[in-house]
Amino acid sequence: MHLSVMPEESLSLLAVRPDGVYLDATAGLGGHTALIAQRLTTGLVIANDRDAESLAIARRNTAEWASRIHFHHGRFGELPAALRELRLEKVDGLLADLGISRYQIMEPERGFSFLHEGPLDMRMDQTTGMTAADIVNHTAEKALADLIYQLGEERGARRLARAIVRARPLRSTLHLADVVERAVPRTGRLHPATKTFMALRMAVNDEQGELDRLLAIGPELLEPGGRMVVISFMSLDDRKVKERFKALGREGRAAILTKHPFRPSDEEIARNPASRSAKLRALAWN
Ligand SMILES: C[S@@+](CC[C@H](N)C(=O)[O-])C[C@H]1O[C@@H](n2cnc3c(N)ncnc32)[C@H](O)[C@@H]1O
Repeated sequence: MHLSVMPEESLSLLAVRPDGVYLDATAGLGGHTALIAQRLTTGLVIANDRDAESLAIARRNTAEWASRIHFHHGRFGELPAALRELRLEKVDGLLADLGISRYQIMEPERGFSFLHEGPLDMRMDQTTGMTAADIVNHTAEKALADLIYQLGEERGARRLARAIVRARPLRSTLHLADVVERAVPRTGRLHPATKTFMALRMAVNDEQGELDRLLAIGPELLEPGGRMVVISFMSLDDRKVKERFKALGREGRAAILTKHPFRPSDEEIARNPASRSAKLRALAWN
């Protein structure tokens, strides 16, 4: 089984009850789903993801608890529909572990990695939408520079956009990584293509828009006393979660359970370096 981020913290803040109904909005490979399902008797966990391939793996990984899990393929905006399918309106807890999974990044065919040759795809849901190739090959230079600057916080965005436009058509992940490496100098430990790939991934999947939808819809799906737990890996995401939770707290609609975000322990980071930038925030719905 792969390593889910902040498992104990997630479960204790979700306050899983054996007869409760839980929504894992980002089932991925099913790590958190399995941990929740293990604690259920008559309860149910709805395992949602926009990535059908990941869901197929999650299904295999969680086969032991299949009777307590309902799978749903969809984006955050489709979560109410996932509940309606089961004639449910509310849940006792909602977990969102944002970003991409280890499987997605490690699979060259998905195009998320600048270390492996693959198509410039980067769609979490490969059944629909624009690919990274569509963006790098067809966006006007200025708009491309803005995208890379705003989403990737890449300071060399202008120079890089010019280099990308000159190198068109960009054919693969390594082709793009090579163009980036030539256009922006290496600083510090990060691979020069890190920020650009992140920006493209965020744009391809409309990750900011999706998070806005999750934060708008999610709390409303909770029973009174229900919990919402969000784990983010990027400061842009964590800021959005913090602001939305704060506003709900101010309006008296929810109680914030994490005054400061929870961070993974040193021991977890040593075991699972991918957890190092995680920030977990939780609320209880009034
Ligand atoms: C970090 S992984 C989750 C790993 C999972 N918690 C586990 O333990 O296996 C994030 C997952 O969220 C999914 N995802 C990201 N944004 C989504 C969205 N807007 N709607 C549905 N799923 C999304 C991705 O496809 C990915 O599988």
